[in-house]
Order: sequence, then structure tokens, then C-alpha cells
Amino acid sequence: MQINLVTQPFASLDTEALVTYVFEDADPVQGRLAEIDQVAGGLLRKLAQSGEFSGKSLEFTLVHAPAGHKATRLLLVGAGKRDQFNSATLRKLSGAALRYLKSRGVHKIVFAVRENDATGESAQAIVEGAVTADFETDKYKTDRKTDKFIESISVAGYSEGEKSAGEKGIAKGRIIAESQNFARDLVNEPSNKLTPRILAEKAEAMAREAGLAVEILDEHKIAGLKMGALLSVAQGSSEPPRVIVVTYTPSSAKPGSPVIGLVGKAVTFDTGGISIKPADGMEKMKYDMAGGATMLGVMRALAALKPNVKVICVVPSTENMPGGKAQKPGDIQTAMSGKTIEVLNTDAEGRLILADAITYAKQLGVTHIVDSATLTGAIVVALANINVGVFGSADQSWTDRLLASAKAAGEKMWQMPMDEEYREFVKGSFADLQNIGSGKGGGSITGAWFIREFAGDTPWIHLDIAGTAWNDDPKPWLAKGPTGVSLRTLVHLVTSY
Ligand code: BES
Ligand code: ZN
Ligand code: ZN
Repeated sequence: MQINLVTQPFASLDTEALVTYVFEDADPVQGRLAEIDQVAGGLLRKLAQSGEFSGKSLEFTLVHAPAGHKATRLLLVGAGKRDQFNSATLRKLSGAALRYLKSRGVHKIVFAVRENDATGESAQAIVEGAVTADFETDKYKTDRKTDKFIESISVAGYSEGEKSAGEKGIAKGRIIAESQNFARDLVNEPSNKLTPRILAEKAEAMAREAGLAVEILDEHKIAGLKMGALLSVAQGSSEPPRVIVVTYTPSSAKPGSPVIGLVGKAVTFDTGGISIKPADGMEKMKYDMAGGATMLGVMRALAALKPNVKVICVVPSTENMPGGKAQKPGDIQTAMSGKTIEVLNTDAEGRLILADAITYAKQLGVTHIVDSATLTGAIVVALANINVGVFGSADQSWTDRLLASAKAAGEKMWQMPMDEEYREFVKGSFADLQNIGSGKGGGSITGAWFIREFAGDTPWIHLDIAGTAWNDDPKPWLAKGPTGVSLRTLVHLVTSY
């Protein structure tokens, strides 16, 4: 898809569709829209008076052959109330407009910002919305419609003076959204086409292309490092595990500056192991590697955005299978850190593999950690598919930074409590730790506390994306399937450091 910025007056834009947006509460025909209305001989005023557009959020009004305009179509998208309008709204609007027009066979779009919105931030949001909306999950359909595609999108409404900021926003938005789609594409792969070995190959190829250092630990190296918790999950499968390590080193990092560790769960398929899951819905467990895919996507974006901080990404990857050699409930394992774990439920495997990955990241020298994982069904009960669950250690300032980044990136995240009382839940009867609680509830917090035992004193954040990494119902701005959630927040967190 071609993306650029144009500064011509709206009426002279030669395009298949000129898109702009309308607010709900005020007179809809004002500012840049009044300009369009005037050229079109009062057409918009008439439409507004007839109630044909009201500015209600995501309401579409499509006008063919608007008078006085070179564009073949004018699409007005409802933007809701002016005082609630922000980059997050703009991102959705542009995505919804793209999908609406794409399904109607339009190939070239101009998205025009309204008065006051000609900023770098707006351009970034428009491009992020459009590029993520363009992502489809029909890769394996042999009858997919090849004539429905978007060839180009131009951002308009900028003056010559505003152009440079807009173009910077476009470039940034494109990098971020394409990295998000890279992650979504991995998540969309079924487990027969994405084993830990294949994920490692794809990560390696991405890192080489992006100019990032990469190391893949195979099962022998993993055993040499005594990653007993990861190996205990992997032993039930005939597919060997991998640990993917991708490093970004800035050209000028100050000595003593932080090293951020990004750790992502990548279980390429979670059957539950011997504590096997019910058949109904098990097919969705191919997305149990979304945390790892997200972190790889973040690294891809960072390679291009070049922040001033070193980042080490560690992705432990395995299948969780009930093979003949699978671990069994009650088995006691020794993690890389030396801590012993009673595996009371083999389906609580994410925390096991994260335990060793975090220990390894600390050994590599990270000073701050964020992990992202489809960790618990309980987070779906608590926050549904709306908010990512955020869990932090004692260093609230690190968590606050992440929450601020989530806000800036337009991703909904909600901090959960981590009181010391919950820590009791993961104390083991026959080993140091047990990998599930004893039926007292608080499933997501229990999982987080288990991981925290391995982060120790290192500032740490855990993101539970089990409810938000997969979109069950298609949205006007997003296809059904993987969302790539938390990528934008993490890119913001690192680049704003
Ligand atoms: N991968 C699952 C969590 C999950 C559930 C992800 C739903 C996406 C949607 C995880 O490994 C798991 O099975 N967790 C168990 C933990 C339990 C055994 C303590 C769960 O949530 O049921
Ligand atoms: Zn599981
Ligand atoms: Zn899992």
C-alpha cells in the first residue's frame, strides 16, 4: 500500500474516495466541511438537514459524484462528540473507512483531517488505523477476493508548513502498524504451520532483515542452561522447544542506562497437557503465542525507530502436549533460578516458561522487565476483551510509565492488585512454589505472583492479554482474529524512555 501526504485543496483531489469526518454535537457543516459544502453547492447542508448524517460514531454517509469535486466519492464518517475526540477515535475512523471502501471495490483513498487536526499525531493515528484495518486473515482461503485491495492512501488537510510533521507521523505510524501486522500474521498461523522451530526461523529472518542481533537457543542449549521449567512443558511434545533472543543496541547508550527486557509467552499450541483442556474451543489455543509474537513485533518496530535504550527480547517457545513423556500433575521441577516448583496443573504452563525466560533475561543484564502473555482465562472473567490486565512489582513508577504509554497509544489497560497476601497462593507444600493457587480465586493475580517470584527485585510488569489478543467478532475497523494488542504501548514505552 502506498501512503503519502498531499497539500492540495480538497476539491482538486483526484481520487476514488475523499474521506472526512463529522461531529455529533455541533453544527456538522463547519470548518473544512463548510468548504466542501460550499464547493458542492450546499449539498452537505441539505444532507444534514434531512437527517442523513448526524455525526454519530461510525455512521457512514457515502455521496457519489459530489458536485465541484474531482473525487468520485465523498465519504463522511461519524466521529461522535467533539470533546471526546482524540487520536484513538481517529485511528478507528480511518480503519473503519478503509474497510468500508475496500469492501466496495475502492482502491485509492484520500483521508482528510478536519481543522485543528493537521498534526503529526493525527497522521500517525490515521496510518496506524488504515494499515491495521487492511490486515486480513484469509491467507489460507483459495477463493479469496483478489480484486478487493487498497492500493494507496493519502493523508490530506495539511498546509505546506504542517507537511513535515505530518510526513513524520506517517512514517512512524507505518512502521508501528506494519510491525503490529507482522505479529498478527504470526498469531494467525495455525500450530501445524507454526511450531517453535518455525517461529524461531521467522524471528531470525525478521531480525536479520531489520538489522537486529539474534540468537536461537535449541533444546540442547536450553538443557545446558538448566531451564527445567521450560523443559518440563516441552517434554510432552515431539516438537523441540526454542528460546528466541533478539537484541537492539542503540548507537549511543549512556553507560549505566537501563536495559529493557521484553519477555513474551509463545506456546504455539496449548492443549493443557495431561490436565487437558475441553475439546470445545481448543482450536483457539494456537494464539497462545501472541505475547511472544507481540514482543518480536515490538523489536521489529524498534529497529526502525531507533530509540536510545538497549532492549533484549526473550521469547520462550514450546508446545504444551500430553505426549507419553509429558509431565504429570504433582511432578516437581527445578527452574533455571534453582527454585523448585510443584506442577499441580500442567495447563498453567505459561508461567513455567516465563519463569526461565525471565531468569535468563536477568542473566543477560536487563534492568527492567515487561512480559506479555495469554496467561489466564481468569483475566477474561475480570476484564473481558476490553482491557489488558496489568500487574506490577513494588516499583510503581515503572508501572505508571507503562500505563501512561498505554493511554498515549490508545490501548486500554487496567492495573490489578498485587498485595503480599496473594503471594501465599503460590507457596508450595512439597516444593518452593506451586504453579496454581488452591481454589481461592484470583487466578490472574496468582499467575502474576508466580512470575514475580522469578523477577525478584528487578522492576517488572506483566501484561495478561488472554482476553484481548484475539478478536472474536469482526469490528468495522478490525478483522476477526489476532489484534496485536500491547505492541503500540510497548513501542511507546521504549521510545519515550
Ligand atoms: N493459555 C491459557 C490461558 C488462556 C485462556 C488464554 C483463555 C487464552 C484464552 C493458559 O495456559 C491456561 O491454560 N491457564 C489456565 C490456568 C489454570 C490452570 C490455573 C486457565 O486460565 O484456565
Ligand atoms: Zn495452559
Ligand atoms: Zn497457555
